[in-house]
Amino acid sequence: MSDTKTATVEVRRLWPSDMEAYRDHLLRLDPRSRHERFGGGMSDDFLVHYAEHCFGQGDLLYGAFIDGDLVGAAELRSNAAIWSEQAPFGRHIHAEAAFSVEHEYRRRGIGENLFRRIQRAASNHGVETIEIICLPDNIGMRMLAQKFKTHFTFEECNLTGRLRARRPTPFSLMREAADDAVDFGVALFDAQWRAVNAAAVATPAAQAERENRSAA
Ligand SMILES: CC(C)(COP(=O)(O)OP(=O)(O)OC[C@H]1O[C@@H](n2cnc3c(N)ncnc32)[C@H](O)[C@@H]1OP(=O)(O)O)[C@@H](O)C(=O)NCCC(=O)NCCS
Repeated sequence: MSDTKTATVEVRRLWPSDMEAYRDHLLRLDPRSRHERFGGGMSDDFLVHYAEHCFGQGDLLYGAFIDGDLVGAAELRSNAAIWSEQAPFGRHIHAEAAFSVEHEYRRRGIGENLFRRIQRAASNHGVETIEIICLPDNIGMRMLAQKFKTHFTFEECNLTGRLRARRPTPFSLMREAADDAVDFGVALFDAQWRAVNAAAVATPAAQAERENRSAA
Protein backbone atom coordinates (compact mmCIF):
# COMPACT_ATOMS: atom_id res chain seq x y z
CA MET A 1 0.00 0.00 0.00
CA SER A 2 1.23 3.54 -0.81
CA ASP A 3 2.19 6.06 1.81
CA THR A 4 -1.21 7.34 3.00
CA LYS A 5 -0.04 10.97 3.00
CA THR A 6 1.26 11.09 -0.57
CA ALA A 7 -0.87 8.56 -2.48
CA THR A 8 -3.20 9.88 -5.17
CA VAL A 9 -6.87 10.05 -4.18
CA GLU A 10 -9.53 9.48 -6.82
CA VAL A 11 -13.11 10.48 -6.14
CA ARG A 12 -15.89 9.00 -8.24
CA ARG A 13 -19.55 8.16 -8.03
CA LEU A 14 -20.40 4.76 -6.55
CA TRP A 15 -22.83 2.44 -8.32
CA PRO A 16 -24.53 -0.80 -7.20
CA SER A 17 -21.48 -2.77 -8.41
CA ASP A 18 -19.53 -0.93 -5.67
CA MET A 19 -21.84 -2.15 -2.91
CA GLU A 20 -19.36 -4.69 -1.50
CA ALA A 21 -16.50 -2.16 -1.48
CA TYR A 22 -18.75 0.34 0.30
CA ARG A 23 -19.85 -2.29 2.83
CA ASP A 24 -16.23 -3.23 3.53
CA HIS A 25 -15.31 0.44 3.98
CA LEU A 26 -18.09 0.85 6.56
CA LEU A 27 -17.01 -2.34 8.33
CA ARG A 28 -13.45 -0.98 8.64
CA LEU A 29 -14.70 2.06 10.59
CA ASP A 30 -13.65 1.82 14.23
CA PRO A 31 -16.32 2.06 17.00
CA ARG A 32 -15.85 5.79 17.53
CA SER A 33 -16.13 6.54 13.80
CA ARG A 34 -19.26 4.39 13.56
CA HIS A 35 -20.70 6.31 16.49
CA GLU A 36 -19.91 9.65 14.85
CA ARG A 37 -21.14 8.59 11.42
CA PHE A 38 -24.42 6.97 12.50
CA GLY A 39 -25.07 8.57 15.87
CA GLY A 40 -24.63 5.25 17.67
CA GLY A 41 -22.25 2.29 17.93
CA MET A 42 -23.48 0.25 14.98
CA SER A 43 -22.90 -3.50 14.73
CA ASP A 44 -21.40 -5.26 11.71
CA ASP A 45 -24.82 -6.72 10.88
CA PHE A 46 -26.37 -3.26 10.83
CA LEU A 47 -23.66 -1.96 8.50
CA VAL A 48 -24.00 -4.90 6.11
CA HIS A 49 -27.77 -4.34 5.93
CA TYR A 50 -27.29 -0.59 5.59
CA ALA A 51 -24.86 -0.92 2.66
CA GLU A 52 -27.20 -3.31 0.86
CA HIS A 53 -29.96 -0.67 0.90
CA CYS A 54 -27.86 2.34 -0.02
CA PHE A 55 -28.28 2.40 -3.76
CA GLY A 56 -31.96 3.22 -4.03
CA GLN A 57 -33.87 5.88 -5.91
CA GLY A 58 -32.78 9.34 -4.88
CA ASP A 59 -29.47 8.17 -3.38
CA LEU A 60 -26.16 9.51 -4.64
CA LEU A 61 -22.94 8.02 -3.29
CA TYR A 62 -19.36 9.03 -3.93
CA GLY A 63 -16.19 7.22 -2.94
CA ALA A 64 -12.56 8.22 -2.43
CA PHE A 65 -10.16 5.55 -3.67
CA ILE A 66 -6.46 5.06 -2.99
CA ASP A 67 -4.75 2.33 -5.00
CA GLY A 68 -8.18 0.94 -5.85
CA ASP A 69 -9.28 0.73 -2.20
CA LEU A 70 -12.32 2.66 -1.02
CA VAL A 71 -11.10 4.63 2.02
CA GLY A 72 -13.71 7.37 2.25
CA ALA A 73 -17.29 7.93 1.13
CA ALA A 74 -20.08 10.47 1.09
CA GLU A 75 -23.80 10.05 0.62
CA LEU A 76 -26.44 12.49 -0.52
CA ARG A 77 -29.83 10.99 0.21
CA SER A 78 -33.28 12.36 -0.30
CA ASN A 79 -36.79 10.98 0.19
CA ALA A 80 -37.85 13.03 -2.81
CA ALA A 81 -36.35 11.34 -5.84
CA ILE A 82 -33.89 13.52 -7.66
CA TRP A 83 -32.72 14.26 -11.16
CA SER A 84 -33.54 11.55 -13.69
CA GLU A 85 -36.32 10.04 -11.60
CA GLN A 86 -38.54 13.15 -11.60
CA ALA A 87 -38.55 16.61 -13.11
CA PRO A 88 -35.91 18.58 -11.19
CA PHE A 89 -35.69 22.20 -10.08
CA GLY A 90 -39.42 22.77 -9.68
CA ARG A 91 -39.52 21.62 -6.06
CA HIS A 92 -37.72 22.46 -2.84
CA ILE A 93 -35.69 19.31 -2.38
CA HIS A 94 -33.72 18.75 0.80
CA ALA A 95 -31.10 16.03 0.86
CA GLU A 96 -29.03 14.73 3.75
CA ALA A 97 -25.29 14.38 3.34
CA ALA A 98 -23.08 12.07 5.41
CA PHE A 99 -19.35 11.44 5.31
CA SER A 100 -16.88 8.79 6.43
CA VAL A 101 -13.11 8.61 6.06
CA GLU A 102 -11.10 5.75 7.53
CA HIS A 103 -8.95 6.78 10.44
CA GLU A 104 -5.49 6.38 8.90
CA TYR A 105 -6.50 8.50 5.88
CA ARG A 106 -7.81 11.54 7.76
CA ARG A 107 -6.55 15.12 7.74
CA ARG A 108 -5.27 14.92 4.20
CA GLY A 109 -8.18 16.60 2.42
CA ILE A 110 -10.33 13.55 1.55
CA GLY A 111 -13.35 14.78 3.52
CA GLU A 112 -13.06 18.21 1.90
CA ASN A 113 -12.76 16.64 -1.55
CA LEU A 114 -15.89 14.54 -0.95
CA PHE A 115 -17.75 17.56 0.44
CA ARG A 116 -16.98 19.55 -2.72
CA ARG A 117 -18.22 16.64 -4.87
CA ILE A 118 -21.46 16.36 -2.85
CA GLN A 119 -22.02 20.09 -3.20
CA ARG A 120 -21.59 19.86 -6.98
CA ALA A 121 -23.85 16.80 -7.20
CA ALA A 122 -26.53 18.58 -5.17
CA SER A 123 -26.52 21.57 -7.54
CA ASN A 124 -26.77 19.37 -10.60
CA HIS A 125 -29.46 17.06 -9.25
CA GLY A 126 -31.96 19.71 -8.27
CA VAL A 127 -31.27 19.73 -4.53
CA GLU A 128 -31.91 23.08 -2.90
CA THR A 129 -30.75 22.49 0.68
CA ILE A 130 -28.03 20.11 1.88
CA GLU A 131 -28.44 18.98 5.49
CA ILE A 132 -25.76 17.43 7.68
CA ILE A 133 -26.72 15.90 11.01
CA CYS A 134 -23.93 15.30 13.50
CA LEU A 135 -23.37 14.84 17.20
CA PRO A 136 -22.58 18.08 19.04
CA ASP A 137 -19.07 16.87 19.97
CA ASN A 138 -18.13 15.93 16.42
CA ILE A 139 -15.55 18.69 16.00
CA GLY A 140 -14.07 17.21 12.80
CA MET A 141 -17.38 17.24 10.90
CA ARG A 142 -18.32 20.66 12.22
CA MET A 143 -15.00 22.19 11.21
CA LEU A 144 -15.14 20.54 7.80
CA ALA A 145 -18.70 21.78 7.15
CA GLN A 146 -17.88 25.26 8.37
CA LYS A 147 -15.21 25.49 5.66
CA PHE A 148 -18.19 25.45 3.28
CA LYS A 149 -20.10 28.09 5.26
CA THR A 150 -22.61 25.60 6.68
CA HIS A 151 -24.89 27.10 9.32
CA PHE A 152 -25.48 24.80 12.33
CA THR A 153 -28.45 24.78 14.71
CA PHE A 154 -29.11 22.52 17.70
CA GLU A 155 -32.09 20.23 17.00
CA GLU A 156 -33.27 17.17 18.97
CA CYS A 157 -29.94 16.41 20.68
CA ASN A 158 -28.02 16.77 17.40
CA LEU A 159 -26.53 19.57 15.40
CA THR A 160 -28.06 20.10 12.00
CA GLY A 161 -26.00 21.95 9.46
CA ARG A 162 -27.62 23.48 6.41
CA LEU A 163 -26.24 25.00 3.26
CA ARG A 164 -27.92 25.95 0.02
CA ALA A 165 -26.73 24.34 -3.17
CA ARG A 166 -25.86 26.60 -6.08
CA ARG A 167 -28.10 26.75 -9.14
CA PRO A 168 -26.77 24.57 -11.95
CA THR A 169 -25.55 25.92 -15.26
CA PRO A 170 -25.68 24.19 -18.67
CA PHE A 171 -21.96 23.55 -18.35
CA SER A 172 -22.21 22.08 -14.83
CA LEU A 173 -25.06 19.78 -15.95
CA MET A 174 -23.04 18.58 -18.93
CA ARG A 175 -20.01 17.98 -16.75
CA GLU A 176 -22.07 16.04 -14.22
CA ALA A 177 -23.55 13.80 -16.92
CA ALA A 178 -20.09 13.21 -18.44
CA ASP A 179 -18.58 12.39 -15.03
CA ASP A 180 -21.43 9.99 -14.25
CA ALA A 181 -20.89 8.16 -17.53
CA VAL A 182 -17.12 7.85 -16.95
CA ASP A 183 -17.62 6.82 -13.31
CA PHE A 184 -20.11 4.15 -14.35
CA GLY A 185 -17.56 2.66 -16.76
CA VAL A 186 -14.81 2.76 -14.13
CA ALA A 187 -17.11 1.09 -11.57
CA LEU A 188 -17.77 -1.81 -13.96
CA PHE A 189 -14.07 -2.13 -14.71
CA ASP A 190 -13.24 -2.11 -10.98
CA ALA A 191 -15.84 -4.81 -10.31
CA GLN A 192 -14.32 -7.02 -13.03
CA TRP A 193 -10.83 -6.37 -11.72
CA ARG A 194 -11.85 -7.38 -8.19
CA ALA A 195 -13.48 -10.56 -9.54
CA VAL A 196 -10.33 -11.47 -11.51
CA ASN A 197 -8.13 -10.88 -8.45
CA ALA A 198 -10.46 -12.88 -6.19
CA ALA A 199 -10.40 -15.76 -8.69
CA ALA A 200 -6.59 -15.63 -8.86
CA VAL A 201 -6.35 -15.76 -5.06
CA ALA A 202 -8.70 -18.74 -4.96
CA THR A 203 -6.88 -20.98 -7.53
CA PRO A 204 -5.20 -24.17 -6.19
CA ALA A 205 -1.84 -22.96 -7.59
CA ALA A 206 -2.08 -19.69 -5.66
CA GLN A 207 -3.12 -21.59 -2.54
CA ALA A 208 -0.12 -23.94 -2.88
CA GLU A 209 2.24 -20.98 -3.39
CA ARG A 210 0.92 -19.28 -0.23
CA GLU A 211 1.42 -22.50 1.73
CA ASN A 212 4.97 -22.88 0.38
CA ARG A 213 5.77 -19.30 1.33
CA SER A 214 4.45 -19.67 4.87
CA ALA A 215 6.31 -22.99 5.29
CA ALA A 216 9.65 -21.43 4.13
C1 LIG B 1 -15.40 14.22 9.53
C2 LIG B 1 -14.47 13.45 8.58
C3 LIG B 1 -15.30 12.95 7.39
C4 LIG B 1 -13.38 14.41 8.09
O1 LIG B 1 -12.62 13.75 7.10
P1 LIG B 1 -11.10 14.18 6.77
O2 LIG B 1 -10.73 13.50 5.50
O3 LIG B 1 -10.23 13.95 7.93
O4 LIG B 1 -11.26 15.75 6.51
P2 LIG B 1 -10.20 16.70 5.78
O5 LIG B 1 -8.83 16.18 5.91
O6 LIG B 1 -10.68 16.95 4.40
O7 LIG B 1 -10.35 18.02 6.63
C5 LIG B 1 -10.84 19.22 6.08
C6 LIG B 1 -10.94 20.27 7.16
O8 LIG B 1 -11.89 19.86 8.14
C7 LIG B 1 -11.45 20.26 9.44
N1 LIG B 1 -11.22 19.05 10.25
C8 LIG B 1 -11.32 17.77 9.86
N2 LIG B 1 -11.10 16.93 10.90
C9 LIG B 1 -10.87 17.73 11.98
C10 LIG B 1 -10.59 17.44 13.34
N3 LIG B 1 -10.51 16.19 13.82
N4 LIG B 1 -10.42 18.49 14.18
C11 LIG B 1 -10.51 19.76 13.73
N5 LIG B 1 -10.74 20.09 12.43
C12 LIG B 1 -10.95 19.09 11.57
C13 LIG B 1 -10.17 21.03 9.24
O9 LIG B 1 -10.53 22.39 9.05
C14 LIG B 1 -9.66 20.45 7.94
O10 LIG B 1 -8.84 21.32 7.22
P3 LIG B 1 -7.25 21.38 7.56
O11 LIG B 1 -6.77 19.96 7.63
O12 LIG B 1 -6.72 22.14 6.40
O13 LIG B 1 -7.15 22.07 8.88
C15 LIG B 1 -13.77 12.26 9.31
O14 LIG B 1 -13.17 12.73 10.48
C16 LIG B 1 -14.70 11.10 9.65
O15 LIG B 1 -14.93 10.22 8.83
N6 LIG B 1 -15.25 11.07 10.88
C17 LIG B 1 -16.08 9.95 11.32
C18 LIG B 1 -17.44 9.94 10.65
C19 LIG B 1 -18.18 11.24 10.90
O16 LIG B 1 -18.00 11.88 11.90
N7 LIG B 1 -19.04 11.62 9.95
C20 LIG B 1 -19.81 12.83 10.09
C21 LIG B 1 -21.24 12.56 10.40
S1 LIG B 1 -22.14 12.53 8.93
